[in-house]
Amino acid sequence: MRSGNHSLLPSSRRATQKLRLLVSPTAASCSIKASTAAKMKALISICIGITIFLIAARAASALAALAFHRLHHRPTASFFPASPSIPRKAYTVLINTWKRNDLLQKSVIHYSKCAGVNSIHIVWSEPNRPSDLLYEVLREAVHSNSIRGNNIELIFDLNQEDSLNNRFKEVKDLKSDAIFSIDDDVIFPCKSVDFAFSVWKSAPETMVGFVPRMHWLDNSNSSLDRYFYGGWWSVWWTGTYSMVLSKAAFFHKKYLHLYSTNMFQSIRNYATKNRNCEDIAMAFLIANETGAPPIWVKGRIFEMGSSGISSLGNHEERRTQCLNDFTAIYGRMPLVASNVKAIDSRSSWLW
Ligand SMILES: *[C@@H]1O[C@H](CO)[C@@H](O)[C@H](O)[C@H]1NC(C)=O
Ligand SMILES: *[C@@H]1O[C@H](CO)[C@@H](O)[C@H](O)[C@H]1NC(C)=O
Repeated sequence: MRSGNHSLLPSSRRATQKLRLLVSPTAASCSIKASTAAKMKALISICIGITIFLIAARAASALAALAFHRLHHRPTASFFPASPSIPRKAYTVLINTWKRNDLLQKSVIHYSKCAGVNSIHIVWSEPNRPSDLLYEVLREAVHSNSIRGNNIELIFDLNQEDSLNNRFKEVKDLKSDAIFSIDDDVIFPCKSVDFAFSVWKSAPETMVGFVPRMHWLDNSNSSLDRYFYGGWWSVWWTGTYSMVLSKAAFFHKKYLHLYSTNMFQSIRNYATKNRNCEDIAMAFLIANETGAPPIWVKGRIFEMGSSGISSLGNHEERRTQCLNDFTAIYGRMPLVASNVKAIDSRSSWLW
């Protein structure tokens, strides 16, 4: 062993030098000056070698995936068969809508096509009941668009009162544990939604979604713990977030129950009165239960029309006010920040 160690030492030093050549630009430039053309050639061939290796590995894994797919994928069966007895095999789509039947129809048609969906619930808060015609049109849309063998149920959840809390009302007899909460004016590709569902299955207690936001500590007065609401820009710039918005997120159905029964009545009243921040309330509720951050999933978003509340003036100020008011009601700030972003490894090029 001893003699072996001796003979190993110089070669490991050589390896370190090679590594430095590759890693540190200053070390590399010094060595290159002193080095011969042969070393340059060696470096270039290493680069070419790595590139070829990456491409080959990529092609091999694509081929392997294809072979696996051919072998195991029957055209009629889906990866997530809807099996009511197993609550983690599929999810419920909970669509929040308001007087936009055309958007609702587009949304229902789209999500009917997703393999993981086993029911679609529409949160209906208008004074008039949905017309028979609308119901028929939507039911036909679900029937003709869903994957064969996937019996998606379509249910309207009718509400007397017009309140933002309606979207988090407890839904009886849900077959699945997972809720995919979505606004009627945003569409995510089925591939992204089914991927987010698989992320949720790894962490079913937490919220998993596509639209991250952040609470930033306001440093202007150190004797006051004040926060301000960080929108898309600040999350993009820093890669830090602490909420995912319920306009496009998965969470466990038990949080619907907790929202209506366990959460502070004052927060529910706040959301009804201000017509805002029910999504922040849900983020607080789940963070308070788990003590953990949510998970942001990468996904392409297609927005259809922007007449939502976020396009009204002073949106950020109102959201900031909610953050601070809810923190005061809880007596502490439950939100936890994170930098994790889940991506689909099948569609990422580099390791
Ligand atoms: C910070 O907040 C406290 C409490 O509201 C206030 O008394 C104080 O004047 C504030 N300080 C500054 C620098 O704004
Ligand atoms: C917050 O979490 C605590 C401890 O788990 C729990 O007792 C309390 O009911 C929760 N509060 C709300 C509003 O959910």
